[in-house]
Amino acid sequence: MSVISNEVEKRARTVNDWSARDMYFSLLSPSGFSKGRADSAGFLTAHLKETSQHFNNMPAHPEQLEAWLDEHTQVVGRQFQEYLAVRQEGGRRWYFSSKAHALYFLRAVAPTKMVDGAWLYGITRHWHDARFASLLKIYLEELGNGVEAMNHVVLYRKLLKVNECEDWKNLDDKFFTQGALQLALAANTETHLPEVIGFNLGYEQLPLHLLITAYELKELNIDPYYFTLHTTIDNPHSGHARAAIDAVTEALPTFGSVRRYMERIMAGVKLNDAGLGTLDIINHFDLHGEVIRVLQNKADIGRYMHSNRCVIEGKTMNEWLADPDQVAKLLYIMQKTGWIKRHQDPEQSRFWQVIAAEKAPMFGVFTAYERQVIYDWIAGDVLETLPRVSRLGPPWRMAEHPMTQPEKQRGNVYDLRSGLRLAELGLPDDDFNQEQLSLERYLHGLGPKRMDFLIDWLSPAKHHTALGLCATRYFKAYMDAPYSQYSRT
Ligand SMILES: [Fe+2]
Ligand SMILES: [Fe+2]
Repeated sequence: MSVISNEVEKRARTVNDWSARDMYFSLLSPSGFSKGRADSAGFLTAHLKETSQHFNNMPAHPEQLEAWLDEHTQVVGRQFQEYLAVRQEGGRRWYFSSKAHALYFLRAVAPTKMVDGAWLYGITRHWHDARFASLLKIYLEELGNGVEAMNHVVLYRKLLKVNECEDWKNLDDKFFTQGALQLALAANTETHLPEVIGFNLGYEQLPLHLLITAYELKELNIDPYYFTLHTTIDNPHSGHARAAIDAVTEALPTFGSVRRYMERIMAGVKLNDAGLGTLDIINHFDLHGEVIRVLQNKADIGRYMHSNRCVIEGKTMNEWLADPDQVAKLLYIMQKTGWIKRHQDPEQSRFWQVIAAEKAPMFGVFTAYERQVIYDWIAGDVLETLPRVSRLGPPWRMAEHPMTQPEKQRGNVYDLRSGLRLAELGLPDDDFNQEQLSLERYLHGLGPKRMDFLIDWLSPAKHHTALGLCATRYFKAYMDAPYSQYSRT
């Protein structure tokens, strides 16, 4: 063991002793939960300690939670009305300075959104215990009850894909703290149940930032559905915010001391403050820094791609790109030599024409997100005066609301009594369906061990895959079957 790790062993480990990113991906790997449990328990403990000093106005008694929820909802509602009034009088957006800024946000919160609901995964092993029914309901709804169009992770993945923001896995460590913590809660639910319930309580309360984010994304021509869905599904009357409060009282009989239980619930609530918050991430955006990062990324490949005819200030483009530290200087020289005309319509800049025009020599080199960063940066002070379609792209097509669409069957429709798929509505036995059909055949041969098998497929790493969605539908059907041997006792 090295001297450094000996030192770390001697003192209590702090949040800085872990890489949140490594923790995140190791817990998402196959059998990550069993292999990484001990390490993730330490990670969780360090963050619980770190956030224990934070202030939170959650009441100390379970019976006061309802009034607390009402008050919170009213305050957020009033604040949002104030926001709307300011905006309707012509006030500027509060969060996103431009479309690139909003896309940056979508990408930066991806590590958290791509494990949406994960903190509740550990509850699935207790599906037969009525004390955790509300928590399980929330988890299954995060998974869309196995319907692809309603699975929150699937929805977010599609949002990233449409906007070409899928390269989030290389983000800095600090963006992974929340996601890693949510996975760590899932891996350690057996020893951290009140903290899981408390974290859920804090997470599921409707925040002001969700309402403003959805409003501004729509204004910037980005489909806000993922965010508006959360303003409805998390509603305080019948949605997840309400169910999260019910969950606190439902699980109470499990614990002897109400005071100690509520202290641990509070610790879980505070865990929502760990890592970067929504506003930190929004304020973290630096358009100039992001242009440089985008170009530095491309320089790795770009330095071999240009012909030596392209010379700027005595250096070929390949020579400029050979050193990533020269990118900022290159941007400056391109402005000096007129390749980039800042604070004008980007169409006037040769650099923009080269990367964005149809049949342009560099068409397709930059993703939609990267082009937006470059566009917004070149346009600078005149951005908001440019035509909407040039600045924000063609209007996104409003997809039909998944709830109003006849559900596209992926094959399994159940008899709720037996939990078995109705054979006549089954999948055709063709090459496209072999994976799901063999999962179903295997499942039917398993008997009472079926639920354990399905729980593995409901994990944060798998539930959003075709088989994970199929398993979720089976899990729910077995769980809800009123008279089957699998129903709750
Ligand atoms: Fe969600
Ligand atoms: Fe939720």
